[in-house]
Amino acid sequence: MHHHSRGLYSVTERTGMLFGADYNPEQWPEGSWPEDIRLMQRAGINMVTLGVFSWARLQPSEDRWDFGWLDRILALLHEGGISVCLATPTASPPPWLGHRHPDTLPTDAAGTRQWYGSRNQFSPSSAVYRQAAEQVTSALAVRYGRHPAVVMWHVGNELGQVSHDDETAGSFRNWLLRRYGSLEGLNTAWGTTFWSQAYSQWEEILPPRTAPYLHNPTHVLDFKRFSSGLLLELYTAERDIIRQHSPEVPVTTNLMGFFRGADYFGFADETDLIGNDWYTDPARPGTWEMGALTHDLCRGLARGEPWLLMESAPSAVNWRPHNSAKEPGAMMVDSLSAVARGADGVCFFQFRQSSFGAERFHSAVVPLAGEDTRVFHEASALGARLQELRLLTGEATPSRIAVLFDWDSWWAAESPDGPSDRLGVLDQLQAYYRPLLRRGLSVEVVHPGAPLDRFDLVLVPSLFLLREHHADALADWVHLGGTAVVGPFTGVADDRGHLREGRFPSVLAALVGVTGEEWRPLAVPVALDIVDPDHTGGARPGAPSPAPFEASVWSEDLRLHSPTASTIATFATGSLAGKPAAVRNSHGAGAAWYVGCDAPAALLSHIVGTAVAEAGLASPVVGELPDDVELATRAGYHFLLNHGPETRVVHLTEHSVDLLSGEPHGTRLALRPYDALVLKSGADHTKNESGTP
Ligand code: GLA
Repeated sequence: MHHHSRGLYSVTERTGMLFGADYNPEQWPEGSWPEDIRLMQRAGINMVTLGVFSWARLQPSEDRWDFGWLDRILALLHEGGISVCLATPTASPPPWLGHRHPDTLPTDAAGTRQWYGSRNQFSPSSAVYRQAAEQVTSALAVRYGRHPAVVMWHVGNELGQVSHDDETAGSFRNWLLRRYGSLEGLNTAWGTTFWSQAYSQWEEILPPRTAPYLHNPTHVLDFKRFSSGLLLELYTAERDIIRQHSPEVPVTTNLMGFFRGADYFGFADETDLIGNDWYTDPARPGTWEMGALTHDLCRGLARGEPWLLMESAPSAVNWRPHNSAKEPGAMMVDSLSAVARGADGVCFFQFRQSSFGAERFHSAVVPLAGEDTRVFHEASALGARLQELRLLTGEATPSRIAVLFDWDSWWAAESPDGPSDRLGVLDQLQAYYRPLLRRGLSVEVVHPGAPLDRFDLVLVPSLFLLREHHADALADWVHLGGTAVVGPFTGVADDRGHLREGRFPSVLAALVGVTGEEWRPLAVPVALDIVDPDHTGGARPGAPSPAPFEASVWSEDLRLHSPTASTIATFATGSLAGKPAAVRNSHGAGAAWYVGCDAPAALLSHIVGTAVAEAGLASPVVGELPDDVELATRAGYHFLLNHGPETRVVHLTEHSVDLLSGEPHGTRLALRPYDALVLKSGADHTKNESGTP
């Protein structure tokens, strides 16, 4: 098995928490570089990412190379005590490549070629592109593989390209041949008896190009799998070259959280550390919740070990239609959210603000206005804070709670032929995550094939495509004492996206003790009743419901399937009135819930809260956290972060001591706007404590 922390720890054991930024020195005259290094030192930056977009500067034409500038900046950085994450520049090929070899350029589904003049203009299966990328990678690895400043390799940038060109069609056919062995196998898997789609020769098979009406869903699913695999191939090809010449230095690439185009569980197996990019939207402060979930995905990808926030914005970005600046203090809060959830470093895009090019308006550690600025001062304060948190470096943050997520299922579920486009996979994921977030309980987002034994609670918000052996493993784990909560429209399809026959959720029916016969996306909201709020056992029809609840998007026509199952909530209005909407089933030594609707927050809070208690997990919070407040615990330290502009009061179950000031806190804490506290809780505190407030 792969250990991600080893890769990152080989760096952080020397540097402590990493504090980094993308640095593009080719945009400024060399004479200004020493000043940049002084500012890095002043801000506490200990690593810069270099060369991400330097291809044309390194290889100005097909047969000319220029490494002198990179030699010089690496030497200066090294002298200045700044480590380097060296990038291969393969995300943005120089114009000469596209000009001489237009077939390296990608085409969209309609066959339109995407030209150079921007970035990312390559087709992942282009042999000529790959050769050129491998050549520049090899040149860098040979020259800098053992350079003392280079502590990490950064392959490409945010790998995400897709192309539908003829060369891609050829690679797709090879991939399909390996997967299915024969045309007959492919025709069966794709169900080509439908709409006269049977293929008679391999040459007929194309990427899913623009067509008159709905595509074959398995064709589309396989193309997504194939395209994701191509991106991983680009990564591993460069990584293997780097490893030959730079065996001691960890290699990774910057992921994009819940990016739809690549299955990051595959990347997690091949990278030496998990690096991820996350950009909170300052105009929608609630995006910190998606940030927390994304950081917990990284924790899961890293199997509980530390990971690295490779990019974030010091203030505004330039790529949303309306780019608000971060509020004073938000940079610290955003950054510590990642650290609290396992990041051993925080990096910014970018170090110095560009005055030209398409990212002129993107914030940077050093704004156009220079060092005497709010952003630079806040960045420096963050740099100092990260070093104060050095004691956490290398500390794993495994969670007892898993949320199952699968790119395959995401791709299959959001097919345009589905029953509704309103039961969004990520929306459901967030809905099930939120009750945990509100209780200060962090999770690991893991693949349905991951071993579950180190978890006490498993949430399955929505797994439309679920392999039978993964369903069996979940049921077996619950049978042995686990606790699971399963969301709607789960277990519906097999690996090919074929719908299972019989009552759903089919492969999970025995686990959840309830089965259904029809999905009924809602035209108007329907009311729900909680039947058994205290979970005193068995359904108590007619028990008063504490509050009205509604499902607004989705309902399922269900009936109990097992004597061990009890109804938790029913539909109260509409044609399903009186039928179960949420069910709890005792299964062996454990229990599972099934929710057959888009449950309102209060119902999910009730169900997840009960499951948390049954799983024996305790929240550090009394009740729930107020809006805007995040609590995440790492190695016994509570990070208490206020993401909003209001003062918020939090009640914790234990007294604590401020890690930095040593100041003792009672169980009631008032958080000022954008406060970021790091508290040592519980036992240790009692020792130091002389007088409690
Ligand atoms: C992405 C890229 C960077 C830069 C930033 C801007 O994350 O990786 O090169 O474009 O966005 O926010």
